[in-house]
Amino acid sequence: MGLLQIRVNDQEEPLIGTLRRVSWTVDALAAKVVQGCLAIAMVGGASTQADGAVGRGTAETAEPVWWVTLAAGAQAVTEFDGLRLAPERRYAVVVTLVDETGQTWRDTAEFFTGTTWDEAAWVTCAADPTEAEGEFLFSRTVQPEKPVASALLYASARGLYEFYADGEKIGADLLTPGWTSYSHAIQYQVYDVTAALAGGGPVRLDARLANGWYLGMLTWDKHPHFYGDEKSLIAKLVVTYTDGTRAVVATDETWLTAPGPIVSSELYDGEVIDGRQANADFLTRGDRTGWQAATVVEADKAVLTPQRDQPCQVTETVGVQRVFTSPNGAVTLDFGQNLVGRVRVDLAHLLPAGETALSLHHAEVLDPAGNAYFGNLRKAKQLLVLPHATPNDGAAWTHFTFQGFRYVVVEANRPLVLDPRAFSAEVVQTAMPRTGYFTCNDMMLNRLFDNIVWGQRGNFVDVPTDCPQRDERLGWTGDTQVFASTGLFNFDSAAFYRKWLADLASDQLENGGVPAVIPDVITPLSPETNSSAAWGDAAVIVPWQVFLFTGDRTVLEDQYESMAAWIAFNNQAGPTPYTGNQGFHYGDWVALDVPGSNFGATPHPYLACCFHRYTTEIMRQTARELGRTDDAAGYADLRDGIDDYFQKTYCDGDESTVQTQTAQVLALKMMRLSEGQRAAIAKRLNSLVVNNNTHLNTGFVGTPYLLEALSENGYPETAVALLRQEDFPSWLYSVRQGATTIWEHWDGIRQDGTLWSDTMNSFNHYAFGAVGDWIYRHLVGIDQMIGLSGFTQVQVAPLIKASGLRDVSGSYQSVAGKIAVAWANQDGAVVMRVQIPTGCHAEIVLFDARPGSLDRGLGSRDTYDEAAGAYHLHVEGGTAVTLNYALR
Ligand code: BGC
Repeated sequence: MGLLQIRVNDQEEPLIGTLRRVSWTVDALAAKVVQGCLAIAMVGGASTQADGAVGRGTAETAEPVWWVTLAAGAQAVTEFDGLRLAPERRYAVVVTLVDETGQTWRDTAEFFTGTTWDEAAWVTCAADPTEAEGEFLFSRTVQPEKPVASALLYASARGLYEFYADGEKIGADLLTPGWTSYSHAIQYQVYDVTAALAGGGPVRLDARLANGWYLGMLTWDKHPHFYGDEKSLIAKLVVTYTDGTRAVVATDETWLTAPGPIVSSELYDGEVIDGRQANADFLTRGDRTGWQAATVVEADKAVLTPQRDQPCQVTETVGVQRVFTSPNGAVTLDFGQNLVGRVRVDLAHLLPAGETALSLHHAEVLDPAGNAYFGNLRKAKQLLVLPHATPNDGAAWTHFTFQGFRYVVVEANRPLVLDPRAFSAEVVQTAMPRTGYFTCNDMMLNRLFDNIVWGQRGNFVDVPTDCPQRDERLGWTGDTQVFASTGLFNFDSAAFYRKWLADLASDQLENGGVPAVIPDVITPLSPETNSSAAWGDAAVIVPWQVFLFTGDRTVLEDQYESMAAWIAFNNQAGPTPYTGNQGFHYGDWVALDVPGSNFGATPHPYLACCFHRYTTEIMRQTARELGRTDDAAGYADLRDGIDDYFQKTYCDGDESTVQTQTAQVLALKMMRLSEGQRAAIAKRLNSLVVNNNTHLNTGFVGTPYLLEALSENGYPETAVALLRQEDFPSWLYSVRQGATTIWEHWDGIRQDGTLWSDTMNSFNHYAFGAVGDWIYRHLVGIDQMIGLSGFTQVQVAPLIKASGLRDVSGSYQSVAGKIAVAWANQDGAVVMRVQIPTGCHAEIVLFDARPGSLDRGLGSRDTYDEAAGAYHLHVEGGTAVTLNYALR
């Protein structure tokens, strides 16, 4: 990434439909920016468009087609009035900034524009497309007629595809075109293939096409063909010659097709790749004798839409840590980390001469006996099967599926000498840049934090899934909602969430209700489980979180109708607009306060009322942000009505009448309370925790705000005690059991070593990882001022004394630039170093500080609050400050 970390529509080098935002950071600059310019230029060789637009040369030399002068301190442009972008082009964004010292800074980023699909046809293979479990191959040789200036390949599929040029995979993207609500939108991708064609050709383009989400089995019912009965490919190569003329090669019946060596491909089950299949060597052998003409399929092209976020890619390769034979005799690989992706097997180094039947079976954990545990996969098989593998096959891996695993059982029909170097695990995830970090002197907490990050990596595989291993892997709304703020701290995931939110709006029910999973594959199976409190509320909470982190109002504009529809749904889903939905709810999912139930003890109407209040208040703020004052006033009235109802129904004087941890948490987080009520409910929460031997018993709904409810209401020590608790149930319990990801249940592996039931026991479920948000805000101390967005007004307020930690350091690469905090507490002497981005303002709060102990004078806005024992210091961004003071 460049000096200014320029983002176009929240991505690094995107394909765009509409340009809505260019943003950058000024971390690298030492002084304030006083002026600047943003210019957009067409790049990539000589070219003349029908409208006369001409692009020449590189980003540096190209003539701008549009520019704007930047106000001092601006870090984003969201208005592009008058900009006309030509389709099928590569453009450069050039940001030039001049700082106070007169120094000029310049950086560029590129993006691609989309295409239209009139010239291309959806094509399939005539070999009974409805029956085919396996992949289809497509092939077409391209011969450029003149010297090539640029070549862009646009492609998509109803199914999943990969493209190759002369046997080499084009681009690093995987699982394309990704999963969306396919009846509304199928993404297409673009690849710059200029280098492949620049040699003058001929170049052979090959594609493989598999079932994926479009036709493959989905949900625990393994429901096939959810979106359609046949898979098809669409592609368009746009070649621009150096003389400015253009040629298009698009999918049609001139493409040749045949079945390929992946004879079975399913997301849950894995793949069977047959080395003896007729076209097994299609990538290295160009002969297409016996292939037939592709069949054109009449299917909607209007759904084709440019890729909305970063695609999936391999982001890391992990080696085998050990190979062992388990008690049941299975040869097992241990990669040391529960991860999501695929195994690459180097057959040339593994196999003896001749044919071997080889299979790899993926598992997350070992059972109590020490064997790889497959029970929790339910009906998912997670296999790579190579029935006829030979050393000449080179390497093998799955293409159109992913597995959740730490262990792999290797089975072969002949004795093998297992060389661990023949296997590597490739981590596949949406390729978002990492933005958040945390470390401290407590190794258990560090591991927990790593587990949270791994949980996100494993479940951000194109859609935010609940889990990556069993016959589910669905975009559960509740899980997405509870983790959103942690997810936005860890990774630059704004584009990822916005892609999903667009699907949420598409799949939203007519009455404003929200399906339990997005993309929606549940409504046909169990419509009664839609629109649960805390699940459907994702429609409002997720866009709001994306807005808070990015400061980008367009997410609120885009989602406004969907957000409002959800509130309207809740208004009519109970006897009055104030009760919230009185229908089905998942409750405080997997809470421990009702033994034997997944639904938790907190009454569902109570949850519904709290969440209705919470999202109504967010709507009020959203309406105000967007200048919709009448709407805002309406939501304020609704909110007040819900508060009155809550007071009448669930409060007895200062107390809440519902006595669960989660009930207190939600009242503190979501409801209007009098001071007396706030104090009493916080006290009650504290005693519910302390009297439970300082343990939580909350589920998906209460857990995310549990620590905040304690620390913000006078009980920071209890919050820390819960976070650092190692006994069951706690976050660190799983760490002590050797977890390398976040578990679905507090007791996925019980204290006696046995496993929670097979029916629902994911070892990679990010929901409880939502505590990451509290770690950032209260241990590292990075937050922003209430009511503000985009991290230009930062608050740094770590709980140093209460944490009991010796040192902590962490950072967050915000849209405004990098915020970093490191503090150390040596027997009450604190050193804190804070870095705030140029152009930002920060309030630093030093809790528990001895008066007069600060090693610097107070500025005009700085104060010392006697009662709270806290310094409040104000610093302007751009330089790092170091503070020394003593704890009282
Ligand atoms: C999923 C959850 C989800 C839940 C609904 C489970 O099967 O894995 O994470 O939120 O169902 O309660």
